[in-house]
Amino acid sequence: MTDTITIRTPDDWHLHLRDGAMLRAVAPETARHFARAIIMPNLVPPVVTGAEAASYRDRILSALPEGSAFTPLMTLYLTEDTDPEDLARAHADGLITAVKLYPAGATTNSASGVANFDKVRPVLEKMAEIGCPLCVHGEVVDSDIDIFDREAVFIERVLDPIRRATPGLRVVMEHITTMQGVEYASEGGPELGATITTHHLVINRNHILAGGIKPHYYCLPVAKREEHRLALRRAATSGDPTFFLGTDSAPHTDANKLLPCGCAGCFTATNTLSILAEVFEQDGALDRLEAFTSFNGPKFYGLPANEGTITLTKGEPVTYPDHIDTGDGVVTVFDPMMPLHWRVVG
Ligand code: DOR
Ligand code: ZN
Repeated sequence: MTDTITIRTPDDWHLHLRDGAMLRAVAPETARHFARAIIMPNLVPPVVTGAEAASYRDRILSALPEGSAFTPLMTLYLTEDTDPEDLARAHADGLITAVKLYPAGATTNSASGVANFDKVRPVLEKMAEIGCPLCVHGEVVDSDIDIFDREAVFIERVLDPIRRATPGLRVVMEHITTMQGVEYASEGGPELGATITTHHLVINRNHILAGGIKPHYYCLPVAKREEHRLALRRAATSGDPTFFLGTDSAPHTDANKLLPCGCAGCFTATNTLSILAEVFEQDGALDRLEAFTSFNGPKFYGLPANEGTITLTKGEPVTYPDHIDTGDGVVTVFDPMMPLHWRVVG
């Protein structure tokens, strides 16, 4: 029985670090085990220009523990007013790695997102030309579309038309949650990738809604039926280079989660690697964990895999804090509802 694995240092291809006191509390949780992360730009106000991305990157670097080698990979928040030239300059300068598309109103701080996709056509064409990937929150927001169908409808009505109209555009389907997402991504060729979160490998919609409402399992896209979770597990553990880890670790204080209208987001930075090792072991795929956490993402983004390694060992159940304290209040750590036996030891 394998009880030690060593893998290249992982990256997180979708992460929320927030700002201020929250940033200072959560950044070390990711920097402890990950070498790089794609940083989401949905601050209030959002990160929309190259100059704002540069200043946010500096704030992140200042929030890291002394001696940390963690590299934040910055993104711009796409709006209907994004200037293609500013974007191209920021990309050429190495300031940004990707651009994030939020359909207006889809999720936390997405009010400045895109409502009319025709308006961003010139920006998308510029991105295809310069090879800047588009990270997509793939949900329609029409009130007549059931929330559990929003991803599948987005693929059909928005994503596929955008990709057909913009040849060469590299797209990451962020945090896919459905078998339709898995299917579309796996047939999309090398210009299409998809991230999968840790929590969507563990929870289905029953965990949120059955036996009482569990706000800490509420995130967007919302977890779907069990058959979809199983499709995500098969995709993540398959070794297929299309799929890579983007935790979407999204801290909100308990005060903001436990409201009549609570925030969406699961905070998984603290225990993600222990959970993933457990999941991959359960599925007989420990030998493919490294592809998911450390190789497939860099390959899609055209970056080298990290040189360093981390080692996990299996033993007595791992203990980790059930919350972290931030200057803004307590943030609950995602509870995977199972004992975790794999700990990162170096
Ligand atoms: O659950 C989520 N939380 N999904 C998102 O898309 C945004 C994120 C956040 O920023 O809190
Ligand atoms: Zn996110």
